[in-house]
Amino acid sequence: MLQTPSWWQTGVIYQVYPRSFFDSNGDGIGDLSGITSKLDYLRWLGVDALWLSPIYPSPMADFGYDIANYIDVDPIFGALQDLDILIQQAHARNLKLILDYVPNHTSDVHPWFQESRSNRTNEKRDWYIWRDPTPDGGPPNNWTSFFGGSAWQFDEQSGQYYLHMFDVKQPDLNWRNPLVRQAMYDALRFWLERGVDGFRVDVLWMLLKDEQLRDNPMNPDWKPGDPAYARQLGHYTEDQPGIHEIVREIRSLLDSYGERVFIGEIYLPLSRLMHYYGEMLDEAHLPFNFQLITTPGWEARTIRQVADEYEKGLPDGAWPNWVLGNHDRPRIATRVGREQARVAQMLLLTLRGTPTCYYGDELGMQNGYVPPDLLYDPQGKDNPEHSRDYERTPMQWDSTANAGFSAPGVTPWLPAADDYPTYNVAAEQQGPRSFLTLTRTLLNLRRSLPALTLGSYQSVDQENDTCFVYQREYEDQRYLIALNFSQQEQIIKLPEQGQGRILLSTHMDRADTLDLSEFRLRGNEGLLIQQEGLI
Ligand code: NOJ
Repeated sequence: MLQTPSWWQTGVIYQVYPRSFFDSNGDGIGDLSGITSKLDYLRWLGVDALWLSPIYPSPMADFGYDIANYIDVDPIFGALQDLDILIQQAHARNLKLILDYVPNHTSDVHPWFQESRSNRTNEKRDWYIWRDPTPDGGPPNNWTSFFGGSAWQFDEQSGQYYLHMFDVKQPDLNWRNPLVRQAMYDALRFWLERGVDGFRVDVLWMLLKDEQLRDNPMNPDWKPGDPAYARQLGHYTEDQPGIHEIVREIRSLLDSYGERVFIGEIYLPLSRLMHYYGEMLDEAHLPFNFQLITTPGWEARTIRQVADEYEKGLPDGAWPNWVLGNHDRPRIATRVGREQARVAQMLLLTLRGTPTCYYGDELGMQNGYVPPDLLYDPQGKDNPEHSRDYERTPMQWDSTANAGFSAPGVTPWLPAADDYPTYNVAAEQQGPRSFLTLTRTLLNLRRSLPALTLGSYQSVDQENDTCFVYQREYEDQRYLIALNFSQQEQIIKLPEQGQGRILLSTHMDRADTLDLSEFRLRGNEGLLIQQEGLI
């Protein structure tokens, strides 16, 4: 059992996509002052930390994941001082602030890359990954970019190819060069000294590539129409030998500043993901666990298996975490429907481990409609279906024009989703059974019941495989969570479990006592039950 849990263990992380959160200056794009002005909302909601997607100077080819300067703020979002104010105001409300750190690649307009590409003998040439063409002039190997096409771009002026695992405007840094590491660690220090509480580290598992540049095998299961990133198996571009040394270096740098959190973006199978905690738990605090996003389908049986296997696979002492949505994947309420998303929200906020909640998911926001001529995301360039713009539409604050995100008359960078007049913060704050009220109630319960943060997790065997039942237990307190993944009423039978008192139904309309030997869940209903009988 934990002695003194850290804030990132008991807290809930809320991801803000700054472009889409709140536009305070009427340019159609969200900004830092906009976020600051909504801190009271986040406090009211009951989350503990904000993670901001990148706010650094950037030409925005990948909306800030193409960084032109690691130690400043893009004027679109404000100035450095606005970030200082945001940090200070967040801290004044007991909220932590986590920045996104993008070490794998810079923007092609970053001065380092400009120097590097200027000629082959420039001292920064080796800061990026340059290679000669093959004898027939082709790229050095078969690696493909996550956004489609070859991962190599020929540079006419210097006669070599550079590597870009993402957009052509995102050249990959060479993390085998110690000077790159030093420069990138200096950037971390810059923000830690300004008081940020930690980092979410972008594509952490891809920082190193095979030194021999061996060809990746193609993914035999890929078919036209599937996302470009699944085309190859990343044998030689992902999770390479040597990566853990870098992860440990980052961790020890963060640790030297006290209690700061290190979250790693890692899409890997469970057994390899777990290595990113470190053999001595000296790597990432929270290697992101994306299984609620990546597991195909949404079935009680599979989700139980996912939760059990994840729990079983955690190294001793490692702290779990769960993510239901982010700026790269379709929103949960679109994937499973708004009614079932309430069940998903109960799952996220009652499983063991730190939850990350994507902005707007607390309202049940769905993907928006974005007309083809307004799609900007490089991931959608070959196939608009894969664009991530749909899950990045403006936060729905109220029922006024632009969902209250931008002032009326302004054209926001993406249109608000059509359903904003009904699904928005102001309306849902008034609704006793709204999605937002459900999320807030869950967050309050999570805060007040130590079993939901510190308690053990145990899935419960029962025969109805459209439902997932698990128990959280801490000292003498026991709670059952029973989730119906179907739209139909279901009966759950739990022999020898005694009586239970419903603390919360996702329908928010019952608080009765149950005989746990047999009880009903309505379609799309989840229950949080305080157990009164003996097990
Ligand atoms: C992962 C980020 O979440 C995504 O938005 C971005 O496009 C890629 N990394 C490249 O930085």
